[in-house]
Amino acid sequence: MNTINTVLPPQLMISQCWAAYTPADHDVWRTLCGRRMAQLEHVGSRVFLEGMRNIGLEPDRVPRLEVMNARLAPRTGWRAIAVTGYLPAPEFFACLARREFPTTVTLRPPEQLDYLPEPDIFHDVFGHVPMHADPVFADFLQRFGAVAAAAREEAEVRRLTRLFWFTVEFGLIREGGETKVYGSGLISSGADCANALSEHCERIPFSLDAVMGQEFEIDHVQPRLFVVENYQELFEAVERL
Ligand SMILES: [Fe+2]
Repeated sequence: MNTINTVLPPQLMISQCWAAYTPADHDVWRTLCGRRMAQLEHVGSRVFLEGMRNIGLEPDRVPRLEVMNARLAPRTGWRAIAVTGYLPAPEFFACLARREFPTTVTLRPPEQLDYLPEPDIFHDVFGHVPMHADPVFADFLQRFGAVAAAAREEAEVRRLTRLFWFTVEFGLIREGGETKVYGSGLISSGADCANALSEHCERIPFSLDAVMGQEFEIDHVQPRLFVVENYQELFEAVERL
């Protein structure tokens, strides 16, 4: 029988010591936020932009998870929880199933503003969490987590990882006749965002079969991405799994 963990193992959890962030950390956050918002005001999904306001993300300082969660949780039941780094896939998926988003709390150094191979709080919070304030996206992500946490076959986990990659990380949506970005990899990176909307990237309509069959490489710009018409489409897709 499949079982899903109900709590994250304590050795993977940490607390965010907000007072320990240095002026240089807040400067990095401010610089990244300023750069990204200049582009996202034009090409970011309305749901992302509204989510940022709704959870009270501030452009000039590193967010306090506790304060952000106090605004987020009453909306959709989601909260961000501080973790040590990458979680093993089963733990990560089980967190999503509980409406907990594992978040790193360190910030990239100033000399690596544009690219950091591992996630940091800018990617994890700025890139992901605003979307969790939307009820439909929130339900989609929870449902995805429950399905993925219950998957045992390696091939099935691989297909679900592709679904996560091409939606939560690199998803595009049509809004008001235009293509906008909502995936965290596009929200948090100017270069990936520009590529996604350029002629170098093939943009095709989302379908569950196409996405789950599409391989990807994590360290290259994406040559093909998938566009949904609305977030309900994502929820309905995971309902069919
Ligand atoms: Fe991510």
